[in-house]
Amino acid sequence: MNVDVTAKNQADWYQDAVFYELYIRAYRDSNGDGNGDFRGAIKKLDHIQSLGVNCIWVMPMYPSPLKDDGYDVADYLGIHPDYGTLADFKAFLDAAHARGLKVVTDMVMNHTSDQHPWFQAARQDKHSPYRDYYVWSDTGSEYADARIIFLDTEPSNWTYDEVAGQYFWHRFYSCQPDLNYDNPQVHEEMFNALRFWLDMGIDGFRIDAIPYLYEREGTNCENLPETHQFLAKMRRMVDEEYPGTLLIAEANQWPHDLLPYFGTEEEPEFQVCFHFPIMPRLYQAVKAGDKTPIVDILNDTPEKPAGTQWMTFLRNHDELTLEMVTPEVRQWMWEQYAPEPRMRLNLGIRRRLAALLDHDKQKWFLLHALFLSLPGTPIIYYGDEIGMGDNIWLPDRHGCRTPMQWNNNLNAGFSSYENTYQPVLAEYPQVNVAAQEDEPDSYLNLTRFLIRARQGQAALRRGEMAWVETGDTAVLAYRRFIHDEGVLCLFNLSSQPQRFALHHERRDLLSPEARLSGTIELKPFAAHWLVLA
Ligand code: BGC
Repeated sequence: MNVDVTAKNQADWYQDAVFYELYIRAYRDSNGDGNGDFRGAIKKLDHIQSLGVNCIWVMPMYPSPLKDDGYDVADYLGIHPDYGTLADFKAFLDAAHARGLKVVTDMVMNHTSDQHPWFQAARQDKHSPYRDYYVWSDTGSEYADARIIFLDTEPSNWTYDEVAGQYFWHRFYSCQPDLNYDNPQVHEEMFNALRFWLDMGIDGFRIDAIPYLYEREGTNCENLPETHQFLAKMRRMVDEEYPGTLLIAEANQWPHDLLPYFGTEEEPEFQVCFHFPIMPRLYQAVKAGDKTPIVDILNDTPEKPAGTQWMTFLRNHDELTLEMVTPEVRQWMWEQYAPEPRMRLNLGIRRRLAALLDHDKQKWFLLHALFLSLPGTPIIYYGDEIGMGDNIWLPDRHGCRTPMQWNNNLNAGFSSYENTYQPVLAEYPQVNVAAQEDEPDSYLNLTRFLIRARQGQAALRRGEMAWVETGDTAVLAYRRFIHDEGVLCLFNLSSQPQRFALHHERRDLLSPEARLSGTIELKPFAAHWLVLA
């Protein structure tokens, strides 16, 4: 049964989709100012479409001082002037829709920039109605059980503001004051921001940093019942006013804390939740040649409500987070994947996918074949489709956000201006889209091939999953199945050949000529998606 994944009116289209994460500043500069923009991105929609993805997630594109690359919003109802105008955004949206691509954007609800007019008004006047949009304290001693997230830079979740004469609460950088969700006016402001973009025709939102909306004394200030009540209220609003809107939860939490973000049948919250804990375990398993971490985390992942979906990824714009592993595993992952201190950030690793794998294409293929066959809606991070590297000498997470490499012209074809917002990687003459177009085994063509192979199998998109015993910790096998269709997914995680006995003759979707039967040899780091011959 092949579902038409481009079907526009299918309410749960996200179940079949592959997403592409787009950093607009990095993609294509159309006006020669060194920053990517929406007019430039329009020209590159052909590339995005050629990958076979179905939806673009646009990272924050709002006016912002860019102290946290746009996750510090100074105006929820505009477009950053470096990226274009509202009309340019609309043109991008329409051009994407015309190609059958959906578009979701980031919505940063937990906090604003300190440059937002609300915060400026709030700090200047204790009696301003905006004062209560934020969380204040005379002592900065409340909520002491809340952890600090940006450990490398922030000594506290409270910062004293001289102008206000009080401390304000922030879970991220001190230039990102948290909004006060105990104030219903804040709910209305956020709902109006959602309405603004939905009126323009976008398909949904990735709602950023949702575990932290409320604070309560004596708790760790994450996943509070009040937060869930607000999120259910938000879902009610979009369901009533904009039915079909997709809401994606960004909550870096353990699976049992994530589950409540789907809500209940009566009080739904999100259709899709990022599954953070599985991501580091994929890298861990491939490095250790041992499937145990993958098996354990999926066995620990509770059944999700009907119609909802996990969202899976190998990399994104942030550090490869190691928040959801034990301290011992974190240490091991740092030693294995981030031997130099510069490669580490907070509780994670600030490196790109191909660089993490030492540009080993076999491992890259294995990891993708694994990730694209697991349950969940996958996201590809821009640049990973060509195996782009990183620049560990840039601060914060910028080393993984460098300009997209299109060809071997000046600035990799990203911009005609010498001073791009971040330097283009020196590797670009070799690693770029144009160079990979005609090479059958390039990262680019392998990405297209894998996505197409997944899209062709309803079992991989929507199917159930069941483990297959292999008697070997290095050999991971599971079946994905729906109705009478099934795919046996088989991986050798080790650098040694392994064996596996097949009961039926099979065809390998990843190596279409191959027919396999009997006891087969699995080459080092081999990946197979097997269907009945
Ligand atoms: C985003 C980060 C950002 C943080 C604060 C995260 O979830 O992915 O890039 O720094 O939220 O907004």
